[in-house]
Amino acid sequence: MNFPSLDHIEKTDITQFQQDLLNWYKEEKRDLPWRYDQDPYKVWVSEIMLQQTRVDTVIPYFERFIEQFPTIEALAEAEEEKVLKAWEGLGYYSRVRNLQAAVKEVHEQYGGKVPDTKEVISSLKGVGPYTSGAILSIAYGVPEPAVDGNVMRVLSRIFSIWDDIAKASTRKVFEEAVRRIISKEDPSSFNQALMELGALICTPTSPACLLCPVRDHCHAFHEGTADELPIKTKKKNMRHVHLAAAVLQTEGGEVLIQKRPESGLLANLWEFPNTELSGHGHPKVELELFLEREYGIESTLDKEPFAKIQHVFSHLTWDIDVYKGTMASSVPARERSRLVSSEEVEQYAFSVSHQKIWKQAKKNGWNHS
Ligand code: ADE
Repeated sequence: MNFPSLDHIEKTDITQFQQDLLNWYKEEKRDLPWRYDQDPYKVWVSEIMLQQTRVDTVIPYFERFIEQFPTIEALAEAEEEKVLKAWEGLGYYSRVRNLQAAVKEVHEQYGGKVPDTKEVISSLKGVGPYTSGAILSIAYGVPEPAVDGNVMRVLSRIFSIWDDIAKASTRKVFEEAVRRIISKEDPSSFNQALMELGALICTPTSPACLLCPVRDHCHAFHEGTADELPIKTKKKNMRHVHLAAAVLQTEGGEVLIQKRPESGLLANLWEFPNTELSGHGHPKVELELFLEREYGIESTLDKEPFAKIQHVFSHLTWDIDVYKGTMASSVPARERSRLVSSEEVEQYAFSVSHQKIWKQAKKNGWNHS
């Protein structure tokens, strides 16, 4: 296939470019826990965590996760609740559900060895072109591209590529670019060096061009267009949803929690009872009606919310008014809801917004009310 937007690659001294990039990476790479060995399982876990999450946030999660589930076998055999709990706070929970499903498949179908071909590894749940390329190159030394948004930013500048990176079809252009420039001797370091350059030098705003090890090769630097690239059109508008949630206590001091549905947003995570508000009527009244309809409970809520929590997902923002209240202790036990003591609350895997709710509730002297 012809890629007219890659014309600048032909004008680049690729061997020199590889050398400059790899020498810099060898000297400057960060000491990150998933770089201590090339265990494909650990590379896999790290790459899944690093999708949509910053390196600094991932480090402690990665260390705890690997301590708790050190091997394919350990993760394959772990209880889902424990795995979700270890992921609590990282967000995008379908990542870890898919990871565990795929790890089970590797355990059962492939003798516990992470597949080393593009075809087989790509058939695993949650393993898309980025993740497969990252595992194959980093763990197995296969010269496959691993193109994410950061790599597209870096390459769009170096080779003056003006395709819109918000479009799904553009990834193919950048994968082709990597195929043309990747080091066949050390694909692992090469792909990680591109990521490292994106993180340390070629950052989204104000790239540090004067410190850049491949500045001499960079077309955007020479053209003075580094600030204009990459081209990224705006995404669709955010959807805003207004919710009311209740932290409800029985006379005995137990708290009502519920488990989210098995599929969809934040599937199977725990939360405090809540409802989307219609915008008609008072939030407190809507919430009381919801509690009666959903749980058959009569509740007494405070007049005003004790907290207002905002949580931003990729396409959606939640604004949650949180009310404290009491209820009769005779709530019937149901499959997806529980009454738990305030100590027990923290053993359940909650979504970030509902962790924030609990934190606020405790701050407000929850245990003493
Ligand atoms: N971002 C995505 N993958 C990464 C890796 N292996 N190292 C550092 N940052 C990354």
